Amino acid sequence: MGRLPEGFLWGGATAANQCEGAYLEGGRGLANVDLIPAGTDRQKVMDGIKVMLECEPGYVYPSHEAIDFYHHYKEDIALFAEMGFKCYRFSIAWSRIYPNGFDEEPNEDGLQFYEAVIDECRKYGMEPLVTIVHFDVPQACIKRFGAWKSREMIDCYLKYCRTIFNRYKRKVRYWLTFNEINMILKHPFLAAGILFESGEDQEEIKYRASHYELVASALATKLAHEIDPENHVGCMLAAGQYYPYSCAPGDVLTAMKKDDENYFFIDVQARGAYPNYAMKMLERKGYNIGITEEDKKILAENTVDFISFSYYSSRVASAEPEKYSVTSGNAFESICNPWLETSEWGWQIDPVGLRITLNALYERYQKPLFIVENGLGAVDTPDDNGNVDDTYRISYLREHIKAMELAVNEDGVELWGYTTWGCIDLVSAGTGEMRKRYGFIYVDKTDDGSGTLKRSRKSSFNWYKQVIASNGEVL
Ligand code: BG6
Repeated sequence: MGRLPEGFLWGGATAANQCEGAYLEGGRGLANVDLIPAGTDRQKVMDGIKVMLECEPGYVYPSHEAIDFYHHYKEDIALFAEMGFKCYRFSIAWSRIYPNGFDEEPNEDGLQFYEAVIDECRKYGMEPLVTIVHFDVPQACIKRFGAWKSREMIDCYLKYCRTIFNRYKRKVRYWLTFNEINMILKHPFLAAGILFESGEDQEEIKYRASHYELVASALATKLAHEIDPENHVGCMLAAGQYYPYSCAPGDVLTAMKKDDENYFFIDVQARGAYPNYAMKMLERKGYNIGITEEDKKILAENTVDFISFSYYSSRVASAEPEKYSVTSGNAFESICNPWLETSEWGWQIDPVGLRITLNALYERYQKPLFIVENGLGAVDTPDDNGNVDDTYRISYLREHIKAMELAVNEDGVELWGYTTWGCIDLVSAGTGEMRKRYGFIYVDKTDDGSGTLKRSRKSSFNWYKQVIASNGEVL
């Protein structure tokens, strides 16, 4: 395969609540992500249907220990460095910095923890790519303001941003304002701490909360540039192009509309204004989401520098969806694509879809792109010697990297980097399971909480090392 441009940022990605554990250590406050249990009630809590604002007896909360990255970060980052990572994407847990979200002063212990993580990355020449919010909202903000239902969250978020931008100035140059910002439409409690009162129009609330996040994202972009003009700020979309089920015009139109529902967020963040289709939708539904003239100015003047996204699969839509069976990949419902294989968790596998998505995003926005999540969640079974031979993961990644290289070298897409999801095994966001593993590094921990937390290299570890060393040539 062709090489990628010099300086291409190869690496891996994690999120605080899925790997750190130590959920109450170092002065950390509780957050929505600590209140989402494993098991059958998980979906209802993630969707804001079942209210769980305190940890309840009888439930297991996977974020509380996760893989204990909090106490293993040096060992873990050393393993990333051994693979040759040029970049490590991680998120800061908001409630480690501001335990309640609205505290007067930040929590020094939390700031020091991330400073140590960042310094450790820098020691190995690894660029930190920091997600400011990866789904987390301090519990106290949910109780006081109803989380992102309220405009007051914008000030809390900006205070947090100002603190971390100043503290990590010149050490961190790449920032993402909100992980998978469109996830708010699918899992509002998981993604934004939102709960609903009876009689509320849930969709209207989700769009109002999205608006506050979009304004907060634009103001954070402004602030990051003021504090250090060399900061690069990106948005982050759960991406995956919709295909029409057939060439029937109704299917094509439906697929286009389904894409708009997701691109809406990035249209605002990258172009600086609500697109007409969104304004028409809000008008048609009679939603008042509180957009002010000042908001419009903020959005217009502070667009993002680059567009990042997660990609796990393409999606399929039809004007008559009831005729077909559905699959669900990363929360986004889709009709089953008969041309594709499916993972153990029902996610369809489509490397060509990555090339299509890269092209679609680049054509639409003409801004640099960054793939910040991609990977295969699978059951890994260590052999008698404890080795995991994950050839299935290597095949998945190889095909996606090939597609990515074609998008860059043949189609001319400007792509800054590629960080695979869950470069070390961690808790699944969707299911709360440990057995759904993505890593190059195996972590000895099971769903019942047992295990030594010992780390070991899978076959994919050495494979990815040679991919990075050859800058994508040897796959
Ligand atoms: C993305 C999230 O939705 O997909 C991650 O940003 C998540 O937090 C990843 O872990 C994979 O999903 P899952 O459900 O397999 O963990």
